[in-house]
Amino acid sequence: MAWASPFRNDLVKDKVALVTGGGTGICFGIAKALGSHGARLILMGRRQDVLEKAQAELAGENIECAISSGDVRRPRDAARAVEQVSRFGALHILVNGAAGNFLCSAEDLSYAAFKAVMDIDLLGSFNMCQAAFPALRSHGGVILNISTTFHYGATPLQTHASAAKAGVDALTRSLACEWGKHGIRVCGIAPGPIAGTEGMRRLAPFGVKQKLKETVPLGRLGTIEDIATAALYLCSDAASYVTGETLVVDGGHWLAKPALIPWDLYERMKNDRQKQ
Ligand code: COA
Repeated sequence: MAWASPFRNDLVKDKVALVTGGGTGICFGIAKALGSHGARLILMGRRQDVLEKAQAELAGENIECAISSGDVRRPRDAARAVEQVSRFGALHILVNGAAGNFLCSAEDLSYAAFKAVMDIDLLGSFNMCQAAFPALRSHGGVILNISTTFHYGATPLQTHASAAKAGVDALTRSLACEWGKHGIRVCGIAPGPIAGTEGMRRLAPFGVKQKLKETVPLGRLGTIEDIATAALYLCSDAASYVTGETLVVDGGHWLAKPALIPWDLYERMKNDRQKQ
């Protein structure tokens, strides 16, 4: 990562982190950031070849990493990934990043399509939390759920992902309350449009990327490093009193609406007022 981290490089030293969906995209970026700040990693994903490629890239940066191929929808795969963690010691950090999404109108969405996304995003996150709980309970730790902002307003063509991630946010809050007494913090990140990701490829085809960029108050798409930086903060002791919170990292995107009063009209009104 050609990126100057604002954190000390021992921020999460000796912590062990299990990252689902960690073979690619935002979650690979999070894994790499945790690894380059001292954590040992287990990447979980469905595709062995993708995990092996990620592992090789991390090895090239002297980041210790094991892989566990499996599907978060299957409790047995979740349990196996957590078992594999034991080769590194105790689990401290679980990042739930495995997700599925595509553009589809509600009337075209099949039962299986809606269920696939609910199962991967929501049930999968729950499965992983439950599998990790005994390990985290013994010494405390952090669960970081990767969410979205789709459900803060409404996001046509993404009913499935919006519903699933609303559930993920509910999971974040409920588990934060239930498991706080065990020293387990449960937080989330809601990324906005992030350049160079599978999400952008799937959800912002054709000219939509440029249009999106124009609607972000900070005037740019996010980077994977923007999300990785937020993840480092939330997974570290810097956030030791933060739980149940989903941090929006989107350049202000979800707050922005098309201007009702165009700026040039406002300027004209201001000039007229000053003349009076
Ligand atoms: N539009 C509408 N329906 C779609 C679809 C699309 N683009 N892609 C898949 N589906 C439907 C399938 O047709 C199937 O429904 P059917 O049986 O009624 O035909 C259902 O979704 C399940 O598809 P399948 O491919 O069997 O599921 P899967 O579990 O292998 O894959 C997905 C899950 C569909 C979420 C797949 O897109 C995936 O694996 N994504 C992972 C990567 C990803 O989405 N990242 C998110 C970046 S934002």
